[in-house]
Order: sequence, then C-alpha cells, then structure tokens
Amino acid sequence: PVSAMEQEGVITQELGSLHGIPLYKSFIEGWPQVKAFQARPDDLLISTYPKSGTTWLSEIMDMIYHDGDVEKCQRDAIYNRVPFLEMRVPKCPSGIEQLENNPSPRLVKTHLPVQLLPTSFWEKDCKIIYMARNPKDVVISYYYFHQMAKIHTHPGTKAKFLENFMAGKVAYGSWYDHVRGWWEKKQEKKMLYLFYEDMKKDPWQEVQKILQFLGKELAEGTVERILHHTSFQEMKKNPAANYETMLPTMMDHSVSPFLRKGISGDWKNHFTVAQNERFDQHYQEHMAGSDLHFQMEV
Ligand code: PPS
Repeated sequence: PVSAMEQEGVITQELGSLHGIPLYKSFIEGWPQVKAFQARPDDLLISTYPKSGTTWLSEIMDMIYHDGDVEKCQRDAIYNRVPFLEMRVPKCPSGIEQLENNPSPRLVKTHLPVQLLPTSFWEKDCKIIYMARNPKDVVISYYYFHQMAKIHTHPGTKAKFLENFMAGKVAYGSWYDHVRGWWEKKQEKKMLYLFYEDMKKDPWQEVQKILQFLGKELAEGTVERILHHTSFQEMKKNPAANYETMLPTMMDHSVSPFLRKGISGDWKNHFTVAQNERFDQHYQEHMAGSDLHFQMEV
C-alpha cells in the first residue's frame, strides 16, 4: 500500500542509526544490498563528508575519464554519471541499481565513513579519492542543503543546526570522525586525499595530482578545458551538473540552489563571534593529536 507521504510525493526521511551513524531511514533499509556490493577492480570511489565538493570532483573526474569531451559529459545528469552508492529513496532507482547499469570503468560516489565502506572496495583494491572541506563552510552549506533537499526534516535555526553538527547529530554523523577516519586509512591504503580549499586556490595543481594518481596523461589544452568546464560559474548553468533536473519533490532550488556560493570562507557571513569562538574551541579539542589541518578560508 502506498503511504500518504508517498502519495503526496514527499520523500522526507527521519534519521535512524546505522552502526551508530545517523542516516536516512530509507538508506538504512537498503543497507544489506550496499554492504554486499561487489565493486569492480576498475571502479573509482569518490568519497566525501556531505557538502565537501563531491559534485565538483565528480564532474572533474568524468571530464578526465572522457579526455575533456564536454559533450560526452553532458550525456546525463551528474547523479546518474556518478551514482551515489548508498542512496535509496522511494520511486527512484537505488544507487546500487544505477551502478549495476553503468559500464566500466565506473565512478562511484559515497559519503560513508571509512569503517562502513563495503569490504569489496578494499578487496578489489579500488582507487579512492577523498575530498575534505573545512567544517565551518561544510556546516553552512549543509544547513542550506537541509532546506532545499526534501529528504531532510527542517533543520531549525542556524544556531541549533550548528549545535547538532558539532555533536554529530546530522546525517553521516561527526565530521571529525569522518575526515580523521579516512585520513588515517591512508597509512595502510594508497589513496588520494584532497582538500576543497586547495582546489579553489590552485585547481590546475590539484588536477595534476589526480592525473598522476591515475597514471593518466592528457593532450595539451585538455586540462585548461576541464578547469573551465568545472568552474563554479560553468557548472551552475550546466543542467547536467547543477541538479536542477531532479524532481521538485526532491529538491527546491528556489529555496537555495544546489550550487549555492562555491567559495571558501562563506561561514564568516553566518557565524557570530561567540559561535566562532565556541567552534574553534571544539575544533581544537576534536582535532587534537592529528596531523590533519584545514584552511578555514583561502
Ligand atoms: S553533496 O550533496 O554532499 O553531494 O554536495 P557536494 O557536491 O559535496 O557539495 C556542494 C557544495 O560544493 C559547491 N560546489 C562548488 N564549489 C566550487 N566550484 C565548483 N565547481 C562547485 N560545484 C559545487 C556547492 O556550491 C556547495 O557549496 P556551497 O558552499 O553551499 O556553495
């Protein structure tokens, strides 16, 4: 039987707990299939905490995979070209179903914390690129995303959301655990760990790092074309990259566009002095003993 919520096309999800990580209930229902996912050796995993530049990196990767061919990268929306592994909402193909239909070599998006990644990614020794973004910009981006992406219940006030974020009481849990968990994994598994802020500062250099990691060379002028096509301004007007083709029941871009600002340091327009002091203190405590460092602006 179709529930009242589904009839209205509303897809709002309460958060449940998956091995201690807060996650949308419908994603948790699909967990057995995600856990059993069979990665292929030539799959490349794009892993991020939400709102850390996933879509940006995904577009860059698809462009690299297609040697900078803009037309080929407009063959479908970014959420189909790079399926979201653990995604599962009513009436849509799940991430797993989408992946089964995509030809190799596949690009795979996940927000899973490192300890929950399906084991076959490790067994098949898949290439992994992690992208991290400073938590102050992440929380502001996440706050606006909660308002526009209808899977979320209303985030409440900015102050309340900031508290929840710091306490890890948001989907995917603690930002600290996420960035640190993936950072520590680098010690045993070769992967590329990138920063949103570096990509903003010198995207050319970051793309060189990716090419080196892939062992791939591109023809002259291709990197320049990739950088142009994946700039915030270009992506914002590209229907294949800006999420505007998603059903209005899923996202409402009139509340806040998916490609919202695309800068580092926007948190300064939102944090009060007191909130910033409190956040800095909390950050120091939770990053203590780590050699992982973030630039809060560029
Ligand atoms: S999601 O829903 O977790 O997959 O979102 P994600 O793509 O990780 O993050 C969205 C934020 O990334 C910004 N973005 C970009 N910034 C700079 N350049 C480019 N090309 C770009 N594309 C996306 C997007 O604007 C979101 O950040 P905010 O701060 O909200 O603008």
